Amino acid sequence: MKPDKKLYKRCEEAVDNRLSGKRLKHVHSVSEFAAQLAHVYGVNEFDAKIAGLLHDWDKLLKDEEFPARMEELGITPPDHVEFLWPVLHSFTGAEAVHREFPELSDDIISSIRNHTLGAIKMSDLDMVIFISDIIEPRRKAYAGIQELRDEVGKVDLSTLYFHAYQQTMRSLIDRGRFIHPAAFDIWNGLVEANVKLDKSKQGDPNVVL
Ligand SMILES: [Fe+2]
Ligand SMILES: [Fe+2]
Repeated sequence: MKPDKKLYKRCEEAVDNRLSGKRLKHVHSVSEFAAQLAHVYGVNEFDAKIAGLLHDWDKLLKDEEFPARMEELGITPPDHVEFLWPVLHSFTGAEAVHREFPELSDDIISSIRNHTLGAIKMSDLDMVIFISDIIEPRRKAYAGIQELRDEVGKVDLSTLYFHAYQQTMRSLIDRGRFIHPAAFDIWNGLVEANVKLDKSKQGDPNVVL
């Protein structure tokens, strides 16, 4: 979208009223960082700034509030919903932001929707928001964060997203968390798209594991 100061101000005021504490600082940080990342990769900086600001719109909802929220917004609850509270805010948030600010582009709404689970095919803006969310400067250090930060501007955006997804999967397993079944398909799809098959590293096909 074209930069629109008034629209940005309205979104900022709404977020400042809706979120608080660490979460509010996080979304401002994602907004700023996403604009920088967008600049590096030639993506619309205004879209990145707005999407970063709004991406966690529903993050402060309590787990028990999600069933009613999904119903209100016409979202069908996924299987294993009880394990998926941490990702639901991206689905309800995207729909709620779309209703609150109908003038925002579909690109922006899509990047809010895709910031947790991701997808195999992501737009450049989707990738900018997914990555910014996990490496923004206020993020607490975790294993692998520095490597991701160091790659900014040195690898292409799809590669950076692939590595960010890899980090997310690793972190979920390390923390003993449930993984959305769709995440495995996304991961495999990303491997297919990003990893060149090297037969010499496939091992002996006759060996039975
Ligand atoms: Fe989030
Ligand atoms: Fe976030």
